[in-house]
Amino acid sequence: MKLAQDQLDQFHREGYVFLPSAFDADEVGMLRRRAEAILKMDRQEVWREKSGVARTAFAAHTYDEGFKRLGAHPRLVEPVMQLLDGSVYMHQFKINAKAAFDGEVWQWHQDFGTWHRDDEMPEPRAMNIALFLDEVSAVNGPLMFIPGSHRAGTLEAGHDLESTSYPLWTLSRDEVSRLANEGGCVAPTGPAGSVIMFHGNLVHASPPNISPFPRTIVYLSLCHVENHIRAFKRAEWIAHRDFTPIRPMADDCLSELAADERRAA
Ligand code: SIN
Ligand code: MN
Repeated sequence: MKLAQDQLDQFHREGYVFLPSAFDADEVGMLRRRAEAILKMDRQEVWREKSGVARTAFAAHTYDEGFKRLGAHPRLVEPVMQLLDGSVYMHQFKINAKAAFDGEVWQWHQDFGTWHRDDEMPEPRAMNIALFLDEVSAVNGPLMFIPGSHRAGTLEAGHDLESTSYPLWTLSRDEVSRLANEGGCVAPTGPAGSVIMFHGNLVHASPPNISPFPRTIVYLSLCHVENHIRAFKRAEWIAHRDFTPIRPMADDCLSELAADERRAA
């Protein structure tokens, strides 16, 4: 799949492009069931909030067939190859649970800020794809973006080890206010199956989820193969060291797996 010119223009101008309902209910339902099972697992890749509920499951594409296929899905990988102009590898893969009632905040940050400082990724030639596994609405902790903030470059940040269970390089309130006074602040919402592709330097955050509705989102962080990380300080399952170019699979790879599962049931 390729992005159209108006989508490319929007990405360069705003730092993100939103594709509502890019995956159908069959594909998303199969991944949703797998995510629920993974988030209950007791394994080191499943990171918990301070309260004990699951926050993030890392690297599910390395041990779960559904997420392995998602990690090579042409609807996700091909547009990123187009935007980054070449082959890409998986730098990070996470399922963020943002549990009903207990899902905690993600503070204001730029992902490339962490990739650069912690992993020595040379350039912001890497980006995120978010796939909604639940409906994301105004009430269940949506992602918030400051449109156009990716054009500010990589901003000064402090290492926040306190606010949540996950260390993050976060921006100051003054910086966020300055950027939002210029660019505003948006929270794209939509049905399960929707996709957002966003620039590694786009400033973003998400509020806690005190609603009774979970907000599960899968993130693929893809990096151009020549821009691979140089430092290996974080665990391999957080910042991958396999720089093999991803070969996009067939477009029906998820619906095929869902059909296999139905036959086996
Ligand atoms: C992230 O910024 O990496 C995650 C944000 C979220 O899932 O709300
Ligand atoms: Mn982020």
